Amino acid sequence: MTRDDVLDSIQANVENENLINHMLATEAIMRALARRLGQDEEEWGLTGLLHDIDVELTEDDMHSHSQLGADIAQELGATGEMAQAILCHNEAHGIHCETLLDKALFCADPLTGLIVAAALVRPNKKLAGVTAKSVMKRFGEKRFAAGANREQIAKCSEIGLELEEFIALGLEAMQGIADELGL
Ligand SMILES: [Fe+2]
Repeated sequence: MTRDDVLDSIQANVENENLINHMLATEAIMRALARRLGQDEEEWGLTGLLHDIDVELTEDDMHSHSQLGADIAQELGATGEMAQAILCHNEAHGIHCETLLDKALFCADPLTGLIVAAALVRPNKKLAGVTAKSVMKRFGEKRFAAGANREQIAKCSEIGLELEEFIALGLEAMQGIADELGL
């Protein structure tokens, strides 16, 4: 499975630009986490890129979401570990995150939304001037980007990262693809 195969499949299954950007941002964070933790960057990156591929197909059915995604990923040639991480990133299935990859995707997913929101409240709406310190502050403001589940983000402790480091790593990763994200 190549990154191009995954991007083709995303083009075929996802229309919403924001959702595509969310998957690209998750990929960037997962790649940075893989480098930080000495894991397979391609495997982790593609897991992040694929993880919400079924959102439009499953609409609001949270019990199908990520089950179908895991199936699509496997059809594309994802490993069983990748499919499992995609499956358990959706808490509705009640499947506990076991592997480092499962846990990394679980905490990376909501971090993208918090960082995007931190960029969008700036006058220029760009990621360039956002600092890790400002995102940390936003993290503590419960009503700011309330959809970005803080408890889930804080699970970075389970992959051995302090919250500050995780936020800084995620921010830097997203800043690295800011043009692609239109931010
Ligand atoms: Fe997601």
